[in-house]
Amino acid sequence: MKRIFNFNAGPSTLPTEVLKEAQEELLDYKGSGISIMEASHRSKLYDDVHNEAISLIKELYKIPQNYHVLFLQGGASLQFAMAPMNLYLGGVAEYADTGSWSSKAIKEAQIQNINYKVVVSSKESGYDRIPDVEFSNEADYAYITSNNTIYGTQYKEYPKTKAPLVVDASSDIFSYPIDWDRVALMFAGAQKNAGPSGVTIVIIRDDLLDRVKDSVPTLLRYKTHAEKNSLYNTPPTFGIYLINLMMKWLKSKGGVEEINKINQKKASLIYDAIDGSDGFYIGHAQKDSRSLMNVTFNIKDRDLEEKFIKEAESADMIGLKGHRSVGGIRASIYNAMSVEGVERLVELMEDFRKRYG
Ligand SMILES: Cc1ncc(COP(=O)(O)O)c(C=O)c1O
Repeated sequence: MKRIFNFNAGPSTLPTEVLKEAQEELLDYKGSGISIMEASHRSKLYDDVHNEAISLIKELYKIPQNYHVLFLQGGASLQFAMAPMNLYLGGVAEYADTGSWSSKAIKEAQIQNINYKVVVSSKESGYDRIPDVEFSNEADYAYITSNNTIYGTQYKEYPKTKAPLVVDASSDIFSYPIDWDRVALMFAGAQKNAGPSGVTIVIIRDDLLDRVKDSVPTLLRYKTHAEKNSLYNTPPTFGIYLINLMMKWLKSKGGVEEINKINQKKASLIYDAIDGSDGFYIGHAQKDSRSLMNVTFNIKDRDLEEKFIKEAESADMIGLKGHRSVGGIRASIYNAMSVEGVERLVELMEDFRKRYG
C-alpha cells in the first residue's frame, strides 16, 4: 500500500487510521454480518452510530445544550439558500464579502429577493484580507465565511453582534475552539475537516428553528431535521459513520484544542518558509489574515509555479495547484494533514528556492 501527501482543498486527505478502520469493518460491522452502509437508517445498529457522532461533535466542539447538530445533504452550497429561507424575518440580512464563497451566498440572498446588505468587501484588494467587519445588532442575521478556502484568509475572531451570526465554516470546522456566545448557526460540508463529501453538518441554536415560514418546503426547514434528529428521511448513513470515526480520531489527538496547536505549528512552518525566502515566495494573504487551513502563495517568477507543482507530484505531494480563479500554489493543510507532510513540502520549497532563486 502507498499513501501519498494529499494537499487538495476538498475532498481532502483523511487520516489513514480512519480509512483502515472503515476498511476493516466494511464487510461485517461489529459482528452484525452486514456492512454499516447496508443497515437500515431505522435500525439500532445505525442509530448508535448516528447518535454517537452527534454526541462526539457536541463534546469535542463544546456545543452548548441549546443547539442542535444536524446532518443534511446538498453541500454547503444549499446552506447559502437555506439560511435566508429559515432565518430572514423581513428586515435586513447583512453579509461580509470575503471571497467567492461569500459572494455565492450573497447571490442566493439576492435570488430570494430579500433585503440584504453587503456591509464590507475585500474584493478590491483581491480578497487578500479579512476586513474589519461591523454588523448592526438589529439585522435578522449576519453572515460570514470563517475561512476563505480559495484565497487563504481566515477570521482570527468572529465579529461581535447581537444579530444571529451565521458562519460558513466549511473549511475550518473542528480546527479551533469556538466561542458559541457569538454563533447562532454554523454549517460545513464535511469533505475537508470532518469526513467524506455528501454530508453537511449544521449546528443551530434552538431559538432560530421557529422563524421559518410556512411556504418553505419540508426538507429545506432546519426545524424538520431538528425535530427528527436528522432522520426525517434517509440520511447519508455511510458518510455519517465516517464522521463518527473522524470524531473518534480527533478525540484520540486530544480534541479541538490540541489539533489547533498542531494546526498553528503546521501553518507557521510554511509561512516561515514564505517569509524567509527573500521574496522568492509571495504569500497571497495579508499577514494578519492568514489562514491556518489553506496557505496560498505565488513564486516571484510565475513561470516556475508549474514546475514546482510537477516536482511536488514527483515527490508524492499532490493537490498543490491554486484555485483556477487565483492561480499560484495552495497547500490545504486541514486537521488530517500530518506535520510530516508539511515538513516534506517545506523541504521542497527550500530546495527549489536554492536551485531557482
Ligand atoms: C468556504 C466554503 N463554503 C462553501 C463551499 C461549497 O461547498 P459544497 O461543495 O459542499 O457545496 C466550499 C467548498 O469548497 C467552501 O470552501
